[in-house]
Amino acid sequence: MTVTPERVTPALPFRPQRVSEEQGVNSAEAEEFLDRMFAEGAAEAGERFEDRLAQVRAEIMETGTYRHTPAELAYGARVAWRNSARCIGRLYWRSLRIRDRRRVTGAAAIAGECVAHLQQATRGGRIRPTITVFAPDTPDAPGPRIHNEQLIRYAGYRFEDGSVLGDPRYAEFTEQVRRLGWRPPERRGSFDVLPLVIEAEPGRPRLFTLPPDAVLEVPLTHPDHRWFAGLGLRWHAVPAISNMPLEIGGVTYPAAPFNGWYLGTEIGARNLADGQRYDLLPVIAELMGLDTTSERTLWRDRALVELTLAVQHSFDAAGVTMADHHTEAHRFLAHLEREERAGRRCPAEWSWIVPPLSGGQTAVFHRYYDEPDPSERPAFLPPP
Ligand code: ARG
Repeated sequence: MTVTPERVTPALPFRPQRVSEEQGVNSAEAEEFLDRMFAEGAAEAGERFEDRLAQVRAEIMETGTYRHTPAELAYGARVAWRNSARCIGRLYWRSLRIRDRRRVTGAAAIAGECVAHLQQATRGGRIRPTITVFAPDTPDAPGPRIHNEQLIRYAGYRFEDGSVLGDPRYAEFTEQVRRLGWRPPERRGSFDVLPLVIEAEPGRPRLFTLPPDAVLEVPLTHPDHRWFAGLGLRWHAVPAISNMPLEIGGVTYPAAPFNGWYLGTEIGARNLADGQRYDLLPVIAELMGLDTTSERTLWRDRALVELTLAVQHSFDAAGVTMADHHTEAHRFLAHLEREERAGRRCPAEWSWIVPPLSGGQTAVFHRYYDEPDPSERPAFLPPP
């Protein structure tokens, strides 16, 4: 891994981390978590609720916090996924692989574990839902933080005239990492992978470049349109969200990057299509020979379908796991039914669950869902 030399910057572009719970863990939250875990039969065979609770309470009295057992960490992370009301892919929540890296310290070692996470989760294209959990916040010290929204994201270079090369969503982040000393490639492109920004010591964010073998990318082609490949489009195989703290039983893990696999529409009907992102529909409509002078020709809709088809086709051709919105909609409803059978609520946010393409043609469109409860735990929390 390349370590970009650090530079002292006059104004720190990232807000330094803070401990989320100054007074330490509230033992009622720990108890509620353990209670649920035992009730769901997820505890280690032979372990008694009363014993574990007494142990945790004593540890909190003494240290202000407590350490999850590996089983508690795994169950907590999986249930945080199960509770993610915006995720349509929750059928597989039990299969989440946990990489327990709570003992890893130092920005460089943490960056190395993020690289290993990507390699093990990517598996050459047979993507495995994976989470790596780094040290929690404690009354003594905050845990480390990863400032990137995802482990893999593309730079956005903003020019004087306001136009952007690359992903406009990350124009500001790109500015920030450049102020921290990141040097863009000699020849800038639309898909330059951003460095990791890791803050292991409060106030000292450090930059790390991802090695190419940690970043599987798929070049985009279209099954029918030869010209499509000439656009030089690509996307990364693994979406790995890295800035949402994981909270389990009163303990907060500020750095706990996790990934699933992509749904074609996330890339084809949002990242590459949105006006505030790569904004490619006018380009594609033009190449398709569509009349873009009137909305009534539905050129946007027609271009959107072909772009999403190209994404799906290319991932399939490359042997990289990707779901389609029709299949995933059915799986989500199967998950919902399973949850109800288990006597649990399954809150969901309609506007996130229904795909941005052909909504009414998918099974998830024609109903409403239980309202999410923002205080539900375990959970992935909104980024600080
Ligand atoms: N929509 C986000 C993106 O395009 C990824 C969110 C997580 N998606 C997933 N399939 N796990 O990068």
